[in-house]
Amino acid sequence: MLAALALSLLATEAHAHAGCGGHEIGRRNLGLMNPRQAAPTNVASGAVSIDPAFECTDYYYEPASKLVPLYPPVWPENNVTGAQECADILPNDTEAMALFQPINATLNAKFPNDRPHGTLLGDFAGVQYNYTDPDCWWSWAKCDTPKADTGLQPDITTVPTPETWGLGFDDGPNCSHNALYDYLQENNQRATMFYIGSNVLDWPLQALRATTDGHQICVHTWSHKYMTALTNSQAFAELYYARKVIKDLLGVTPQCWRPPYGDVDNRIRYIASQLNLTTIVWSDDSQDWREGVPADNVTAADVTLNYQAVVDKVSNGTYINHGPVVLTHELTNFTMSEFISQYPSIKNAFKHVAPLCVAYNITHPYVETDIVCPSFSQYISGTINISSSTPMDSSSSSSSGTTSMSGSMTGSMTGSATSSGTSASATSKSDTKTGSATPAMKSSFGLGASLLGAMVAGLLLA
Ligand SMILES: *[C@@H]1O[C@H](CO)[C@@H](O)[C@H](O)[C@H]1NC(C)=O
Ligand SMILES: *[C@@H]1O[C@H](CO)[C@@H](O)[C@H](O)[C@H]1NC(C)=O
Ligand SMILES: *[C@@H]1O[C@H](CO)[C@@H](O)[C@H](O)[C@H]1NC(C)=O
Ligand SMILES: *[C@@H]1O[C@H](CO)[C@@H](O)[C@H](O)[C@H]1NC(C)=O
Ligand SMILES: *[C@@H]1O[C@H](CO)[C@@H](O)[C@H](O)[C@H]1NC(C)=O
Ligand SMILES: *[C@@H]1O[C@H](CO)[C@@H](O)[C@H](O)[C@H]1NC(C)=O
Ligand SMILES: *[C@@H]1O[C@H](CO)[C@@H](O)[C@H](O)[C@H]1NC(C)=O
Ligand SMILES: *[C@@H]1O[C@H](CO)[C@@H](O)[C@H](O)[C@H]1NC(C)=O
Ligand SMILES: *[C@@H]1O[C@H](CO)[C@@H](O)[C@H](O)[C@H]1NC(C)=O
Ligand SMILES: *[C@@H]1O[C@H](CO)[C@@H](O)[C@H](O)[C@H]1NC(C)=O
Ligand SMILES: *[C@@H]1O[C@H](CO)[C@@H](O)[C@H](O)[C@H]1NC(C)=O
Ligand SMILES: [Zn+2]
Repeated sequence: MLAALALSLLATEAHAHAGCGGHEIGRRNLGLMNPRQAAPTNVASGAVSIDPAFECTDYYYEPASKLVPLYPPVWPENNVTGAQECADILPNDTEAMALFQPINATLNAKFPNDRPHGTLLGDFAGVQYNYTDPDCWWSWAKCDTPKADTGLQPDITTVPTPETWGLGFDDGPNCSHNALYDYLQENNQRATMFYIGSNVLDWPLQALRATTDGHQICVHTWSHKYMTALTNSQAFAELYYARKVIKDLLGVTPQCWRPPYGDVDNRIRYIASQLNLTTIVWSDDSQDWREGVPADNVTAADVTLNYQAVVDKVSNGTYINHGPVVLTHELTNFTMSEFISQYPSIKNAFKHVAPLCVAYNITHPYVETDIVCPSFSQYISGTINISSSTPMDSSSSSSSGTTSMSGSMTGSMTGSATSSGTSASATSKSDTKTGSATPAMKSSFGLGASLLGAMVAGLLLA
């Protein structure tokens, strides 16, 4: 009995390292306290430039700036008061609170023992958890299928289309990613972008580029914390505000999300389900996010081997009836360059490379039903954009009925990459980066030891 238990806990140690890794927090923790403020230069071309001297120029974009008081702080840990590290429901946000209250009541009734554990940065030391995994906690043993009596859907881990690479990028948007977006554009390749709400408010024009280019957007929380550590209202807020800022700035309401580090359990799945967000994890991890992090000891060559391992599985029949969803990032120059260098071999081995709404034939990926995702068969015959279609063109075939996404958006989207230059004004930028990068990294470097602690705690529990 004890031996079996020890084994299951050892398995946990290995699995709990899966995910997009604590270390990236240090590198990703780049938000300022306000959306970009800059001189009134040519904002639009800056947002799509690949000139390193220009593309990260801060800018003023009124549609984003005016949202700031209605949202939690951008990258809350950068808030100089240090009072908040993740989003929570704003005290005067009655609309959010009205949506949250019944969710909270149901959670307390339905999952009374599924409580927050560990820290926002993934330190699970001292966590006592029933090793039978009653909460289907992904970080514990990669559970992705809640028991039927929970009424929760299984997480998405693969795509149903044979020999198809389900393509997604985590952690955008950012200012320095135009080379990747250009590359996707040049190759007529569309992808699913898992966007962080804080980054969307930080880099709204770069976020707009994704929808204009015809990519699919899913939610990747407000500030990229370990969701199972959060209280009910924090977890709700991390999803609610990220979904809302995407609606407010890009005009679309996503119906999918990916938990940072894969850290999800039934409590969090329930909150996501009540926001109509499908939970998407992955089947294969490129580990690209770990490259260059000293304590992780993952080299560029290792990441190449990880990509190659997925590619190699095509030839032995692994993907005869489905395809992988591979965890890849738009995070560093390396993660993006590595994808670009692997893409030809992916294309060569796999029959298709497709965004997730395409691989699942999800015609309406957003609440806004005028935005259409092509079916798999449409996509492979050349209709590739996730974009608006005119009401006239409800049928499948031509791309003539599609217009660029920004062309059809009114109301909530008051600017676009090409019209926003007019709102530029010289407001002084308050670049008060208060480096929480170091504490974050220090803490996440302790993850291994923390998990050891969790293992010991588990043994004591038994
Ligand atoms: C910082 O956090 C405090 C406490 O949550 C909040 O009142 C304040 O508005 C935040 N400041 C900024 C600039 O976001
Ligand atoms: C909440 O209060 C802030 C500051 O008082 C205000 O700017 C904001 O508009 C309010 N938000 C909502 C949703 O009412
Ligand atoms: C949600 O429920 C918890 C009990 O699990 C309670 O402590 C908390 O105050 C509730 N949150 C709100 C905002 O009502
Ligand atoms: C652990 O979970 C199992 C099955 O869900 C249950 O029978 C058992 O009582 C739980 N143990 C503790 C210590 O909660
Ligand atoms: C897809 O959208 C891009 C960017 O708006 C556009 O250049 C391209 O012509 C569109 N492609 C198709 C097939 O509609
Ligand atoms: C979820 O979808 C249902 C059915 O369309 C809708 O009634 C509900 O308002 C949606 N919930 C949210 C939070 O958008
Ligand atoms: C890092 O990897 C190198 C090469 O594989 C190996 O020799 C070294 O022992 C590793 N270091 C750690 C700390 O794992
Ligand atoms: C294909 O190779 C992979 C990796 O070696 C292995 O895990 C898998 O079981 C193999 N599948 C088949 C159908 O042979
Ligand atoms: C993201 O943007 C920041 C500026 O906020 C920049 O310093 C950083 O290098 C960018 N990250 C990547 C991966 O390019
Ligand atoms: C990586 O950086 C180099 C040098 O600045 C640049 O030429 C290249 O376009 C970048 N790659 C990506 C994918 O951003
Ligand atoms: C998607 O639709 C195609 C026909 O367009 C069909 O062959 C395929 O089975 C569908 N896939 C899914 C996952 O429904
Ligand atoms: Zn991530």
